[in-house]
Amino acid sequence: MGFQYIDNELYVENVKVEDIAKDVKTPVYIYSKQHFEEQFKKFDEAFSRKHCISFAVKANSNLSVINTFAKLGSGADIVSKGELFRALKANIEPSKIVFSGVAKTKDEIKYAIENEIMMLNLESTDELYAVNDVAKSLNKKARIAFRVNPDVDPKTHPYISTGLKKNKFGIPYEEAFDAYLKAKELDNIEIYGVQFHIGSQLLDSTPIYDASVKVANLMKELLLKGIEFKAVDVGGGLGIVYDKQKDNPPSVEIYAKQVEEAFKDFEDVLLVCEPGRFLVGNGGIMVTKVVYHKKNVNKNFIIVDAGMNDLIRPSLYGAFQEIQPIKRGQNEKIVCDVVGPICETSDFLARDYEIEDAQNGDYLAVFSSGAYGFTMSSNYNSRAKAAEVMVDGNDYKIIRQRENLEDLIKGETL
Ligand SMILES: Cc1ncc(COP(=O)(O)O)c(C=O)c1O
Repeated sequence: MGFQYIDNELYVENVKVEDIAKDVKTPVYIYSKQHFEEQFKKFDEAFSRKHCISFAVKANSNLSVINTFAKLGSGADIVSKGELFRALKANIEPSKIVFSGVAKTKDEIKYAIENEIMMLNLESTDELYAVNDVAKSLNKKARIAFRVNPDVDPKTHPYISTGLKKNKFGIPYEEAFDAYLKAKELDNIEIYGVQFHIGSQLLDSTPIYDASVKVANLMKELLLKGIEFKAVDVGGGLGIVYDKQKDNPPSVEIYAKQVEEAFKDFEDVLLVCEPGRFLVGNGGIMVTKVVYHKKNVNKNFIIVDAGMNDLIRPSLYGAFQEIQPIKRGQNEKIVCDVVGPICETSDFLARDYEIEDAQNGDYLAVFSSGAYGFTMSSNYNSRAKAAEVMVDGNDYKIIRQRENLEDLIKGETL
């Protein structure tokens, strides 16, 4: 889907990757619009009840990408004023936007209320009072949900696990009931929903089901206190295949079935989902050029022009991403580290990795780079950020220009 080798040459849809790399230069992120659309439709069709897909913009916040989903009816899960700005610019309907995050400032809260988003997902009672104050100053009622931390182990990498008691996210399950009672007393708050998100790259659907059942039970208890919900937001987290030998995520159909089963007593409540990685992860590659080869004692290095500033997942989480030359069948396989130009030992894309060798000047594709790739990139070592390209059938378009030297010093003074 989207990416395939034809006669040993990599294509994105109908476009040869080499043509884009030569035209746009490297490093470059290349996305398949068709893949994004197919993933969205798959997710959408898996649910049989009333639902809203609010794309987690943090996974890939390029305007064209967000707009691709907006055209399919998507909403957005946002975590900052900047992401809300992007979502609105990309034509997402405000009524389909949910705002997560533990540290929303009053300025961000004001921007969200003024733009009439669906709801603010609150992560503490301090935040509840801040939202009430801001709404009061605007003479409005703010629609809110609490993000409940259900203390369920998502069995994923600790850095992307969010639903355990020890994590900073959400209101502890045991305190959520009282938090809603407090919210009910406030004049400028409208209780709209309940939310949870237990982690990312989930490869087992049981924790999602367990968390859903806990949250459904909380909703039942609150109903007895006269608190009704218009939306239940189950967050994101559905995993994807990075490593074909190891990763076996549940199908979206199983995921949807379990969530629907857990909330079957709340059929009239809008089900909100916040998928990120599932929609875009396998829909992007990062293409990088081999600069040099090097051997230190008995270790081979392929040195490329993309560093951890361009794609940090391998360095940050030890994440696996498949790497292949964009032209295969030319060289012997070697075992090597694929490393970048950054002055850090952690600057690698792969370690002790078996790959078909490539000559200096050849291109490599790093697969599954569509989520948390470009959005996590930085200017570390004063490196300009990569370009982003979207392929659509036989055509491609630069959807973000490569940064230049002037971009690097924008806003700075001597
Ligand atoms: C609140 C929230 N919702 C949704 C997501 C998206 O998760 P994923 O990309 O795993 O679907 C995240 C990711 O961190 C998140 O924090």
